Amino acid sequence: MTSLNFNFGGTDTRVFIQDELPSLSDILPIMGRDKRYHVICDENTKPYADEIGASVPICLSGSGEKEKNWDSIKKILKAACAAELGRDDIFIGIGGGVVSDICAFAASIYMRGARLALVSTTLLGMADAALGGKTGIDLFGIKNLAGTFYPARAVWMPLSTLKTLPPSQFKSGLAEIIKSVILDETIDENTAFEELSKGNAAVRLEKIVLAAVKLKGRIVEADPRETGTERAKLNLGHTFGHALEAAAGLGKITHGEAVAWGIVRACELGLALGITPPERAHAITHLLQNLGYETGAPHPALLSGGSGQPLARKFLNALNSDKKRIAGSLRFIIPAQKGAVIVPVSAEKMPLVQEIALGSLTEFLRI
Ligand SMILES: NC(=O)c1ccc[n+]([C@@H]2O[C@H](COP(=O)([O-])OP(=O)(O)OC[C@H]3O[C@@H](n4cnc5c(N)ncnc54)[C@H](O)[C@@H]3O)[C@@H](O)[C@H]2O)c1
Repeated sequence: MTSLNFNFGGTDTRVFIQDELPSLSDILPIMGRDKRYHVICDENTKPYADEIGASVPICLSGSGEKEKNWDSIKKILKAACAAELGRDDIFIGIGGGVVSDICAFAASIYMRGARLALVSTTLLGMADAALGGKTGIDLFGIKNLAGTFYPARAVWMPLSTLKTLPPSQFKSGLAEIIKSVILDETIDENTAFEELSKGNAAVRLEKIVLAAVKLKGRIVEADPRETGTERAKLNLGHTFGHALEAAAGLGKITHGEAVAWGIVRACELGLALGITPPERAHAITHLLQNLGYETGAPHPALLSGGSGQPLARKFLNALNSDKKRIAGSLRFIIPAQKGAVIVPVSAEKMPLVQEIALGSLTEFLRI
């Protein structure tokens, strides 16, 4: 077991990377032994909630992105109210990024903030979503439109739970790991790429999760509310990726698939702007291609259902409404000589961005 301590904007977060699922007798002493608790899971992580020892877990209606809505929040708050939980009591979320985002959001608003523990059961959750305090639900078709900053007091990452994860979800998490390797200037990228290119079986899970957790922890500690630029770098691949997810329909392709595709677009933009060295852009694209991610433009999900014209427009609208816009310019995170840099792209350069993201579909945008 590896244990790490972080402080995110005044809240101490303990992280446990271990093989086994923790039990309530591991969780409660750390969260407050005399406190009451309730456990939140989804349909696929219910067996883990049962195994942990939760008597009646609050189970979301289904699973996946579609659950990130007000109904899920109301269900959790109603159950907390029925169980007469107080502000000092504990919300324990068991699942991937969807459960952690929802459970953390509900905990953050319940009586102005209940105690929060997360048990992360997806690679994406471990590499990214469970750590750092961003919570949220999707509203009006917009991802994470409503949310708060509310770090968990403790996060468990039981690697054995990844054995039941569907391969497509493992691949989704691997994209966030690759993002983390690209951003991390302290590791040898070529060696890491070589190890990652061997695929699931050969990847040393504890090592890659630990590296991603350390990087995210370091960045969030320095900028817990994303007011500076460092934390924004964690959005590498996300500006293009979120627009793709929104255009394809939330939940239609996995988050990691969208991020991987977005990373390749960021490399192409970086190449065009003279920021990403060609050999680095090639190495990143090659790795993602080898691991079976979609790297071409337009993404096939934008072609489904006819000519692609409506989805190309939807993509562009989503890209233009990105929350990370500053003074009229969109901000892109672009791999540089090392790590990545933030580059504002003004309206005049948008045709270049469109070409890189939409390829042949750009002709529709001129009509
Ligand atoms: N808050 C943040 O900082 C942050 C960062 C990155 C991503 N996110 C969010 O995370 C979400 C994606 O997270 P995700 O990829 O973990 O998706 P997810 O939570 O939907 O999990 C993917 C699927 O795997 C199932 N599952 C989870 N653990 C399992 C296990 N061990 N065995 C079998 N099935 C299991 C789930 O039920 C679901 O069907 C997105 O909504 C994204 O916005 C948040």
